[in-house]
Amino acid sequence: MRRLILPLIVFSLILIPWIAHSEQAKTLDELAAMYDSQQCGGCHYEIHENWSKSWHAKSIVDPRVLRTWRTFILSGLGKSPEARKKDLKDMCLPCHAPMAKDASEELIVQIADLIVTAVDDKDPAKRKEAIKELSKLNIDCLACHNLKGVPDGNPKPNTIYGPESEASPPHKDALGFDTVKTGFFKESKFCATCHHGCPPDLPSSICPTLWTSYEEEYLAHGGDKTCQDCHMQGEGGKRHRFPGIYEVDFAGTGIELKLDVKPTEYVYHLDNRIVPAVVVKVDAKNTSGHGIPHG
Ligand code: HEC
Ligand code: HEC
Ligand code: HEC
Ligand code: HEC
Ligand code: HEC
Repeated sequence: MRRLILPLIVFSLILIPWIAHSEQAKTLDELAAMYDSQQCGGCHYEIHENWSKSWHAKSIVDPRVLRTWRTFILSGLGKSPEARKKDLKDMCLPCHAPMAKDASEELIVQIADLIVTAVDDKDPAKRKEAIKELSKLNIDCLACHNLKGVPDGNPKPNTIYGPESEASPPHKDALGFDTVKTGFFKESKFCATCHHGCPPDLPSSICPTLWTSYEEEYLAHGGDKTCQDCHMQGEGGKRHRFPGIYEVDFAGTGIELKLDVKPTEYVYHLDNRIVPAVVVKVDAKNTSGHGIPHG
């Protein structure tokens, strides 16, 4: 057995870097093809429709994100002698476009340049073209159902992780993908991998996030819903719409307003007149699962 192991180790030492290298995408199209959500949309049509309207589908081309990023690249990275554009791979992209982990260094630099072009270029056609290219980067089906699908961050390739549905999906025949059922998708911790960006064990006094307010103010005071319970409601595809603060109907459920209005009179001393008035008592209660607004 021992005789077998040594060549195996040598072989895998040669092979692993080779595989890792050969899988690095050099263009945005290559990268997008590795994580093609369209192939999932063919069968999960409604989920794909709803996901494409969610912020997760626009996690790079959202104008707020683009502008902040441009500033970060020019003033943050630009002024630091150590940090370079290629370092974006480990700074912003793991949450905003997890698929970028398979991008080559040159492609990361190209992405950074596209972000600057998308915001700053004087030619509107060039800005539009850059945004179109960047829209290939987002948080798509496989970002969640593969890359972020296991708590330890080491998912198996060609695997779809999912929330233990009864049916047996035809993924192996259709795509060559295994399906692995895991309770992780039902846990709030699943969302925390991105919605709580602090290093582990950093106290919330130093690094308060939406997650720390969920744990310390909501769960600690008897709240028992998961992120999914509130943000993935509805039937079928609707669950992947992920409404938040910009979806008025949903945001309205985050606040309970009690207005107590009593009629009264007001003496207007200047010309000695009595005018009718009202006393309004406002009682506002946060019924979402965390501090609002946040971010
Ligand atoms: C050939 C059709 C087909 C394709 C293509 C397909 N799926 Fe599925 N998938 C199904 C069916 C059918 C089910 C079982 C019923 C259900 O849960 O919708 C399913 C179930 C799932 C589940 C729930 C798994 C569980 O048991 O927990 C997930 C997650 C999933 N698919 C993700 C994906 C992703 C991501 C892609 C693209 C990479 C994809 N599917 C592509 C047909 C397909
Ligand atoms: C932001 C992360 C995220 C993204 C992006 C995402 N999913 Fe999901 N998906 C989940 C979670 C979490 C659940 C489990 C929800 C639950 O059961 O409470 C889930 C459940 C599912 C299920 C089981 C049935 C259901 O509706 O619960 C299917 C099928 C599925 N996803 C397919 C997809 C497809 C296809 C895409 C891309 C169009 C996609 N998902 C994108 C997080 C995501
Ligand atoms: C740990 C994961 C993570 C990392 C790393 C990360 N983000 Fe974010 N970012 C998020 C999440 C989650 C949201 C949505 C937050 C919300 O709406 O409460 C977000 C939202 C944003 C927004 C829009 C919200 C706002 O405040 O207007 C911008 C802009 C942004 N991120 C820029 C960046 C930049 C630039 C970097 C790199 C320097 C970065 N992010 C790194 C997870 C991350
Ligand atoms: C791969 C990282 C990632 C994961 C996993 C993830 N999110 Fe997000 N989410 C983001 C980022 C980044 C944004 C901001 C996108 C933007 O504003 O452009 C966002 C935006 C949102 C928004 C809209 C925010 C707003 O401002 O209204 C909601 C709601 C949301 N996420 C809920 C969830 C929930 C619930 C889960 C878990 C089931 C989850 N997310 C899992 C990264 C992630
Ligand atoms: C009890 C229901 C409930 C729970 C639990 C819950 N949320 Fe929310 N969340 C809401 C409501 C309602 C809003 C919109 C209210 C608002 O922001 O004005 C919201 C807003 C958000 C936003 C947008 C915030 C902003 O200001 O940009 C994000 C992101 C988000 N939630 C993520 C999460 C994550 C991640 C979890 C789990 C750690 C979670 N939520 C748990 C109800 C909930």
